[in-house]
Amino acid sequence: MRGKESRLLTLGIETSCDETSVAVVEDGRRILANVIHSQVELHHEFGGVVPELAARDHLERLPHLLDQALEKAAVQPADLDLIAVTRGPGLVGCLLVGVGVAEGLATAWSKPLTGVNHLWGHIYAAMLARPDLEPPLLGLVVSGAHSDLVRMPEHGRFEVIGRTRDDAAGEAFDKAARMLDLGYPGGPALDRLARTGDPRRQPLPKPSLPGLEYSFSGLKTALLYRLRDLGEAVTDQDRADLAAAFEQSVVESLLEKLDLGLEEQPVAEVVVAGGVAANTLLRKRAAEVVGDRARLTTPPLDLCTDNAAMIAAAGYLGGGPRPADVDPSLGWEP
Ligand code: KG4
Ligand code: ZN
Repeated sequence: MRGKESRLLTLGIETSCDETSVAVVEDGRRILANVIHSQVELHHEFGGVVPELAARDHLERLPHLLDQALEKAAVQPADLDLIAVTRGPGLVGCLLVGVGVAEGLATAWSKPLTGVNHLWGHIYAAMLARPDLEPPLLGLVVSGAHSDLVRMPEHGRFEVIGRTRDDAAGEAFDKAARMLDLGYPGGPALDRLARTGDPRRQPLPKPSLPGLEYSFSGLKTALLYRLRDLGEAVTDQDRADLAAAFEQSVVESLLEKLDLGLEEQPVAEVVVAGGVAANTLLRKRAAEVVGDRARLTTPPLDLCTDNAAMIAAAGYLGGGPRPADVDPSLGWEP
């Protein structure tokens, strides 16, 4: 028998976009299982996520992933204390699948259910990477749909201090990757290509807005024009150099605001998370920019991209239980 007082188990379910994931997390900080199925191959031929296909695939795969997670964690449904599911933001059909399944399990197993904000999950991924990490912290969440600079004064409370005016960083990377014929998913491919390029050979402007806002649409247009000017004469080296220049502009723009946020209100802990935090240059430069002003936590790659362990952590540590009603356009509120 397990000592229930010291070992509370949360089942996490994540289906907001193109990863189906189920996890079991102990005390909100220790991963017992975190199984992830990426739909990359399913959407590859379409060059992006097809929402209807994504939702159907989540529904088909969830039962098996659930079995796998429970087996890997060596727990029975009766051992679980909480079920945490992403309620937004994300694709509505995909979110409905996750919440529907979670509601069914909560009823069948008589367990409490909590709805989780996916963006909170990205921050809480850092607490799985570093179980001693506590707010207050300054967080940069960079994903496919968000580039947000947030302050987290305490568990379950977030204040947005900076956001993008147009594209999110991940969206910008994905669009640039498409222009460079790198296909979907674009971010990781652009990262790889950029490693073989030199940003100084094809410099692109670094977007800069006053205050803490980002904008990446001008940079995207600059890349488009540069490629148009090069036309048929474009070489593989040009493409690598442009990938490196684009990456550098996005990364420096993100970190300029992080730097400013840290200057304006110093804090001991900084978290850089979300899918784009898997980017090689961003990880390296974030460490340099934060320096010894604060302790930087960047979750390992598999906790940066979407996964259910971060949802379980946020569901357990972030207060609640909260209603699990689907909200595709949820901001940073619970
Ligand atoms: O957080 P995430 O997995 O899903 C969302 O919640 O959106 O983020 C996905 C985004 C995609 O835009 C993807 O291209 C980007 O993260 N991404 C990267 C890298 N790995 C994933 N962008 C740049 N470099 C990477 N290594
Ligand atoms: Zn995400």
